[in-house]
Amino acid sequence: MLVSAKEMLEKAKAGHYAVGQFNINNLEWTKAILATAQENNSPVILGVSEGAGKYMGGYDVVVGMVNGLIKDQNITVPVALHLDHGSYEHCYKCLEAGFSSIMFDGSHFPIEENVEKTKELVAAAHDKGCSIEAEVGSIGGEEDGVVGAGECADPQECKAIADLGVDFLAAGIGNIHGKYPDNWKGLSFETLDAVQQLTGELPLVLHGGTGIPADMIKKAITLGVAKINVNTECQLSFAEATRKYIEAGKDLEGKGFDPRKLLAPGTEAIKATVKEKMELFGSVGKA
Ligand code: 13P
Repeated sequence: MLVSAKEMLEKAKAGHYAVGQFNINNLEWTKAILATAQENNSPVILGVSEGAGKYMGGYDVVVGMVNGLIKDQNITVPVALHLDHGSYEHCYKCLEAGFSSIMFDGSHFPIEENVEKTKELVAAAHDKGCSIEAEVGSIGGEEDGVVGAGECADPQECKAIADLGVDFLAAGIGNIHGKYPDNWKGLSFETLDAVQQLTGELPLVLHGGTGIPADMIKKAITLGVAKINVNTECQLSFAEATRKYIEAGKDLEGKGFDPRKLLAPGTEAIKATVKEKMELFGSVGKA
């Protein structure tokens, strides 16, 4: 059964570790991430962007697939199904479809409008027993065609959003989605520290987990980060393993063209990446 992400993240913050949000794209991704969570006795959050939801055929398909896998694969660790960077309309669609968690990304609105919409969605999510994440200060990089500049959030604005009753908060601290450029200045721990001082026990979220050095991840966790989002790194691992299989000509040997064989190395590569992240984040054995 899907669970809200509230309890697992409060536990993570209190226990000084973080739960990974791994974005899903299809059946292989979902199976690989759920199996790795189960094997490592780790809680997990499956992230679905609006683009990925559309790609998979719609939110009902996603909910059906995830619930089916949890049942048929005997997944007993806590799993949350979370809308990643949702618009106002899609937050409602996902709550309706059976997601257990949503993120409302109102970071591009003026703060007053972000506050107003977040407040309404907090009530809607909690009404259904679902958790809700909000964002202040846009995360840089490109995601589903939206390019953010990688700002540092205003800690006072973070407090204003936190006070609305959101369950966890993404604050921009110079992090970006996708690969980090060579001249990246690193995370702003000063901003993170200031945000945590004003938001207290609230679990904080670090987006753009791909390519952040391990020491920065660990430091962010000591400053209140309890959820770390990883997307691009699984895509890179999958692509690399699939390329190797094809470049080695394995799809041309016997029935190597069978999708169950062709997609297997990529699926295994996702499992290895997810396991590595769970170990780094400290969530192994915390289910
Ligand atoms: P990466 O693709 O950089 O890992 O970021 C993922 C993310 O933050 C999803 O919201």
